[in-house]
Amino acid sequence: MTDPAGYEPRAAPPAVDGYRRLRQVTGLSPKSEAQAAAAIAGTWSWRTALAADGSIAAMGRVVGDGGWCFLIADMATLPEHQGRGLGRAILVALLDEIRERAEPGAYVTLTADPPGRRLYEPLGFDDVAPGRTGMHQVL
Ligand SMILES: CC(C)(COP(=O)(O)OP(=O)(O)OC[C@H]1O[C@@H](n2cnc3c(N)ncnc32)[C@H](O)[C@@H]1OP(=O)(O)O)[C@@H](O)C(=O)NCCC(=O)NCCS
Repeated sequence: MTDPAGYEPRAAPPAVDGYRRLRQVTGLSPKSEAQAAAAIAGTWSWRTALAADGSIAAMGRVVGDGGWCFLIADMATLPEHQGRGLGRAILVALLDEIRERAEPGAYVTLTADPPGRRLYEPLGFDDVAPGRTGMHQVL
């Protein structure tokens, strides 16, 4: 898959302030500086896309054990850069890296909102199982 023209794809994390800004601007829950720093350092793989002026336009990451269990998180594209294929390119790159670095059979999970299904389903994601649901809590 080719990357969207006019953007520089990077296999590198965002800076703490860029990470926090992207989450905030795209409507994801706000994170503190300490949360952001730990998230950046503890991530298995990062992808970002830079705009022509060098600023961050989009990000996504994989949190995982490197063996078989992986979580796609922080998929976010700034509104002015949405709809240009950045989210899809980032997700494809992350999935390709899991395929390359992990044994076959890797379990990849994410939480999708309804519009996100158009991004995730064509790339192979499916509902967990009929009658089963994801569960969570905030500690
Ligand atoms: C989800 C998100 C990262 C997609 O980024 P993007 O760079 O615009 O993605 P793409 O341009 O590659 O588009 C991929 C497809 O997903 C669709 N899509 C995915 N999430 C969407 C959303 N929340 N709203 C509208 N469309 C969405 C796009 O319309 C597109 O479908 P199409 O190609 O059939 O038209 C971006 O919409 C975003 O930052 N949303 C807010 C943060 C968020 O909700 N993240 C988690 C989503 S579960």
